[in-house]
Amino acid sequence: MPVAPLRPPLRIAVLISGGGSNLQALMDGCATGLIPGQIVLVISNRSDAFGLERAKKYQIPTRVIDHRLFSLRASFDQMVARALEEAGAELVCLAGFMRVLTSDFVQYYAGRLLNIHPALLPAFPGIHVQRQAIEAGVRFSGATVHFVVPEVDSGPIVIQAVVPVLADDTPDTLAARILRQEHRIYPLAVRWFAQGRLRLEEGRVRVMDGEEDDLGVLVNPMGEA
Ligand code: GRF
Repeated sequence: MPVAPLRPPLRIAVLISGGGSNLQALMDGCATGLIPGQIVLVISNRSDAFGLERAKKYQIPTRVIDHRLFSLRASFDQMVARALEEAGAELVCLAGFMRVLTSDFVQYYAGRLLNIHPALLPAFPGIHVQRQAIEAGVRFSGATVHFVVPEVDSGPIVIQAVVPVLADDTPDTLAARILRQEHRIYPLAVRWFAQGRLRLEEGRVRVMDGEEDDLGVLVNPMGEA
């Protein structure tokens, strides 16, 4: 009987700018075996990003590449790309990384560059998205993991999680509810990538072998019939 060849753990790099709670979820996913991969490098464009401390605790190599030291966006991106190449990164995960990457960079990493966004794309791209969602009066928002394309906050969607927007929500309470779901779905998306289960077909992502057919219907608020 043929035996499937064992893949070596996927080499993952994570780009951050801040707290790094999604980085934490990915590190935990690797540590528990949910993700058959290892984080080989964490890059931050800010030296005070708390995520750097999280990475150090897990003995993961870190690099600070301060975007303010580069007059050209492209030069910053080239420095990031060089660090990623040196680390042998096979997948790059943006996790609260607050810099727009050049289309050259994005195209070079096409199909191996993921981002997480705290809204149900294509609704509410950009920043202050929880405030946007509340002001629009939507009943649901959520989080999206997607492949990165040159247009900001768009690209083939891998997985989304939905949360209700409650009547008394503030941007902060909604952000916290969404963040809890981000920590669930980002590791799952990376797991599927590492398992080779994501197929890009005509600009859409297909997840092979199930985990996709758990169909749910959500209604909020539940009024009288
Ligand atoms: C998350 O909401 C992420 O979706 C957005 O920035 C936030 C980063 O949080 N892009 P953290 O740094 O992972 O805690």
